[in-house]
Amino acid sequence: MSTNRAKIVLVTGASSGIGRACAELLSAQGHTVYGTSRKPAQAPAGFRMLELDVTRDDSVQAAVATVLAEQGRLDAVVNNAGYALAGPLEETSIEEARHQFDTNFFGVLRVCQAVLPSMRTHRSGLIINVSSLGGVAGLPFQGLYSASKFALEGLTESLRLEVASFGIQVTSLQPGDVYTPITENRVRVRQSGPDSPYRSAFATALGIIEKEERAGAPAGLVARHVLTLLERKQVGVRYTVGRLSQRIITAAKAFLPSRLFEHLLKSYYGL
Ligand SMILES: NC(=O)c1ccc[n+]([C@@H]2O[C@H](COP(=O)([O-])OP(=O)(O)OC[C@H]3O[C@@H](n4cnc5c(N)ncnc54)[C@H](OP(=O)(O)O)[C@@H]3O)[C@@H](O)[C@H]2O)c1
Repeated sequence: MSTNRAKIVLVTGASSGIGRACAELLSAQGHTVYGTSRKPAQAPAGFRMLELDVTRDDSVQAAVATVLAEQGRLDAVVNNAGYALAGPLEETSIEEARHQFDTNFFGVLRVCQAVLPSMRTHRSGLIINVSSLGGVAGLPFQGLYSASKFALEGLTESLRLEVASFGIQVTSLQPGDVYTPITENRVRVRQSGPDSPYRSAFATALGIIEKEERAGAPAGLVARHVLTLLERKQVGVRYTVGRLSQRIITAAKAFLPSRLFEHLLKSYYGL
C-alpha cells in the first residue's frame, strides 16, 4: 500500500462516535472519505455520507459500488459500525444474539467481501477492523458483544493470511472505553426484568461499564491511531488504543494465571 498520496477511504458507522471522528480527521488530512449511516443526514463538511446497513447484503454492495463508480478504487476501509448488546447470557434470545453478530461480525465480513475484489485487482488495500478490549477478555453481561469481537479477532487473523499475497493488509484495532453515544445506544436484552436472578449483578456491572465509558478516552484518540495506520507501510496484527490502565488488559491476560486474571475481572465488576 502506497503511503504518500491521498487515499480513498470508507468508514462504516460515521454518523457518531469513533466513526465520525475518523471520517472528520481523515478528510481534514486530505483523504477522500466516504462515511456511512443507516439514515444518512447532512454530513459534516469534508466527507460524503452514504446509506449503509451492514446487516443487508444489497445495502453493502450498493455503498461499495458507489465508491468504486466514483473513484475507481478503494484504498482503505475502517470497519467501525457496531453496537453493544447488554444482558445476562441466559436471558438473551437467539434473535438478539443473531442481530448482535449480524452487525458486529457478519457486517464486517459483508464489507470485506464487497471490497476485496477491487483491492485484489489493484494489489493494494488496508482493512482496519474496529474490535474492542471486549474482544480480548469476555466481559460480564456483555457476553454477546464480547463474543462478536472475539470472532472478529479470528476473522482478522485468518483474513491477513489469505490476502497478504495480494498486497492487502488487515489489522484489528482494540479500543478501551471511549466516550461516545455507544452508552446511550446500548441495547438491553428484552427478557431481563425486575424478577431476573441476575438483576442486582447486572445492574452493578452495567453501572461500572457505563461509568467507565463516560470517563473514556476521546474518540479523536482512536481517529489519530487510525490515521497513523493509514500512513504505515506495514500494519501489525492488532493494536490497543485508549487509557493505559485499560490497555494493560492484553498483557495481564497473556501473563497472569487465568484464575487470577478472572478474579481481577470479578472484583473490578463488583461480582
Ligand atoms: N465507545 C467505546 O467505548 C468502544 C470501545 C471499544 C470498541 N468500540 C467499537 O467502536 C465502534 C463504534 O462505536 P462507537 O462507540 O463510536 O458507537 P456509536 O457512537 O454508537 O456509533 C456506532 C455507529 O455504528 C453505526 N451502526 C450501528 N448499527 C449499524 C448497522 N446495522 N449498519 C450500519 N451502521 C450501523 C451507527 O450508525 P447509524 O445508527 O447512523 O446507522 C453509528 O454510526 C463499534 O464497533 C464499537 O464496538 C467502541
